[in-house]
Amino acid sequence: MDKLIIEGGRPLKGEVKISGSKNATLPVLAATLLTDETCVLRNVPKLLDTNTMVRLLKALGKDVDWDKDKLIIMSNGKPSPVADYKLVSTMRGSICVLGPLLTKLGEAKVSLPGGCVIGVRPVDLHVKGVEALGAKVEVEAGYIIAKARRLKGARVYLGGASGPSVLGTANIMMAAALAEGETIIECAACEPEVEELANFLNEMGARIRGQGSPRIIIHGVKKLHGADYRMSADRIEAGTFILLSAMAKNSNIVVRDCDYHQLTALDDVLKKVGATVVSQKDVVRVKAPKVLKPVSVTTYPYPGFPTDIQAQYMALMSLADGVSVVRDTVFPDRFMHIAELNRMGARIRREGGSAIVEGVGELCGAPVVASDLRASAALVMAGLVARGKTEIRRVYHLDRGYENIDHKLVMLGASIKREKE
Ligand code: EPZ
Repeated sequence: MDKLIIEGGRPLKGEVKISGSKNATLPVLAATLLTDETCVLRNVPKLLDTNTMVRLLKALGKDVDWDKDKLIIMSNGKPSPVADYKLVSTMRGSICVLGPLLTKLGEAKVSLPGGCVIGVRPVDLHVKGVEALGAKVEVEAGYIIAKARRLKGARVYLGGASGPSVLGTANIMMAAALAEGETIIECAACEPEVEELANFLNEMGARIRGQGSPRIIIHGVKKLHGADYRMSADRIEAGTFILLSAMAKNSNIVVRDCDYHQLTALDDVLKKVGATVVSQKDVVRVKAPKVLKPVSVTTYPYPGFPTDIQAQYMALMSLADGVSVVRDTVFPDRFMHIAELNRMGARIRREGGSAIVEGVGELCGAPVVASDLRASAALVMAGLVARGKTEIRRVYHLDRGYENIDHKLVMLGASIKREKE
């Protein structure tokens, strides 16, 4: 396992290019199961999670090869409906092969993904959705076993206790793409990643409209063909670097290749915090204010403040001039980063689904442990601005979702080294 050693306090200057979107790439990769023809995906980020999904596609009957920065996905003529525990348990996102397998092969046996440090991660909405389309579903020995000769379109409400489900919406959209008749998804997730999946499916010949809104309408078709598609930039990686720009004093970071319109909730908060934000086309510059004003935030499904930048925002607020409250309504337990930030001198305490953040003058470097993808990013940000040395262990969490992050930070002037643990 690797660890990162960071010497904090260095001013960060220069340009960072945002990689392709992890959370759009995973369902798009799953969608290639809907056709036997070749698909070409460009701007795919080289991450642990995309590698895991590639391994899963190979186990499900695909040949997948990198051709420079293009990913070529072809059928090897031996499709399998079984997504086994070994692969699915390492990455929850694998659940999004359920819909494609079921609608293409008439059956799917997908391991239950299991929980992770940010929460229980149930799949009841995924099961509800495919059952609404006529599938027979059993859950047995840790697997979801779904069968259906041909799915039939239906109207299905996909809102759960915590609102819409991103991958639940993805699964049902993909299942409905080859179903007979029309499917209407009510309370669909509106995330840009869901919109991107629908755009890719339409490139394959699907007939989907309403993506990006809470009501998505899918007219099933008989067959889908291959497509050549370029993934857009990662909204959450962009948000992470934009928050870093607001946190690192005397810095001047230019974040390139990001669609800032997808981060309006973050933009709204940054202005209240006192940061100066200038965005033109796909470039965003943020100037950190002398004093960070404490601004409380609650996460909500898109277009609300994203849960995936909650940890990174908490790192910023740990240096604010006062007390702020950070609440996560999507994953109320997503607070593993509190203990580690406190080891670095932050003063944060948890109260139920909220964190009370009492800003401190500065953070100090310390040995810390990464626990999940976005918590790791928060620790890296804290280490970059802390006084002294920070050592972050188990950085494979970071490598799941941030492509070449140490290289990108070194190019900005950070002192960051990767070593074997
Ligand atoms: C996606 O996960 C993202 N992952 C997550 O990003 C992100 O945090 C999440 O959406 C919310 O935006 C990928 O896209 C690969 P959900 P997903 O289903 O789809 C509850 C990251 O850091 N729920 O939208 O699995 C669930 O417990 C990752 O990149 C049910 O109740 O999340 C949660 O409270 C972490 N029943 C809420 O809905 C279900 O059947 C939202 O979960 C499914 C979910």
